[in-house]
Amino acid sequence: MIVGVPSETAAGETRVALVPPVTKKLVDRGVDVCVESGAGEGSDWADAAYEDVGCTVVDDRAEVFERADVICQVRGLAANADEPMDPYREGQVVVGTLGPHDLDAWDELADRRVSAFALELMPRISRAQSMDVLSSMASIGGYKATLVAAEQLPKLFPLEMTAAGTVRPAEVFVIGAGVAGLKAIATAERLGASVRAYDIRLEVKQEVESLGADFVELDLETEESGDEEGYAREMDEEFYRQQRKEMSRVVPESDVVITTAAIPGRPAPELVSTEMIEEMADGSIIVDLAAADGGNCEPTRADETITHEGVTIFGPTNLPATVAQTASQLFANNLYNFLDHLLADGELDVDTDDEIVDSTLLTHDGTIRRPHENGGGGDDDEDETEDEPAEGKTDA
Ligand code: NAI
Repeated sequence: MIVGVPSETAAGETRVALVPPVTKKLVDRGVDVCVESGAGEGSDWADAAYEDVGCTVVDDRAEVFERADVICQVRGLAANADEPMDPYREGQVVVGTLGPHDLDAWDELADRRVSAFALELMPRISRAQSMDVLSSMASIGGYKATLVAAEQLPKLFPLEMTAAGTVRPAEVFVIGAGVAGLKAIATAERLGASVRAYDIRLEVKQEVESLGADFVELDLETEESGDEEGYAREMDEEFYRQQRKEMSRVVPESDVVITTAAIPGRPAPELVSTEMIEEMADGSIIVDLAAADGGNCEPTRADETITHEGVTIFGPTNLPATVAQTASQLFANNLYNFLDHLLADGELDVDTDDEIVDSTLLTHDGTIRRPHENGGGGDDDEDETEDEPAEGKTDA
């Protein structure tokens, strides 16, 4: 079996799907690994490091796609809008994050008889935890979001008692206490800020408090807010209107707001209004981690930094790419664990009875298997559906 690692082509993408220490594990199991020259450059892995562990490095990107039985990518399909799809060939297996969930692309993958695994659809079950790229990337995103805020805030995070006077700690409010939110809370606590957090799933209150932060209680009916996998359900607009009203007490008192509220496969709920931002003190910072899904704040623009009445709002969509070495290492570990799960006698065994395979396999044998998970509804083709739709998840 030949595994191929092409360079990433998305704008600003510095990660690589497999790093040399992980490719070594594949080589040691008798797998050939073919890497495009320069693929590891953005995460500081030279071609020589791949060669040293037994990979073949080739100059021509097309050659990787021609030779490989399995293509491993951080971002697959067509990484940039308006670009043609990567040259996957019939019978090839593609593993990576394959968002945005674009039905036209899935049609093309099915036509080419490619077996495509979207790692962002990994079920949140304990045996799949080691393969969960969304969680490992969200954890990095939460950490970096706090650093971005700490760097930009014109105040220190910790309480300072000095001969020159005492300064109060910065007030940080984290909205959404899932993977990214909990890491943002932990990082802000470590930097000495006074941290508050809110999530509609009240079961995370204890986790928030165990990190040293205060859980903000809002007067909202949240009983039906979570599903069995630990994801939030989408609420109706009246709920969000009420939530914004309740949060308008907390947001203006905060120096930093980090928003991470997400519902799998749906646009991000808008929770922070422009009006609330106008009540914040000049110099305050918002980092909206949900920017790629529309943002949790009214003025957020993806991949832009804007200032509104003295408040700076960051809308980064790929913070993991700013720490490419760690992000690539964790991504590669997740990917290896997934391949390891599928490998049997040196070949990939695509067993659709397995929950992990069933959840992540988008196209196989010329068929689109999960046409409902297009990240926002749309016109699904019922005829091509083999399974009941499962909940989609957002991109890494
Ligand atoms: P998650 O699903 O673990 O957490 C999201 C949390 O939001 C859940 O705990 C959920 O209950 C909560 N939530 C949903 N609706 C809410 C509401 N109305 N009010 C308060 N909380 C609400 O997701 P994860 O993995 O932590 O990711 C969070 C966001 O960060 C996603 O949008 C993800 O795409 C994004 N992300 C962004 C990165 C970047 O570089 N910008 C990097 C990684 C993730």
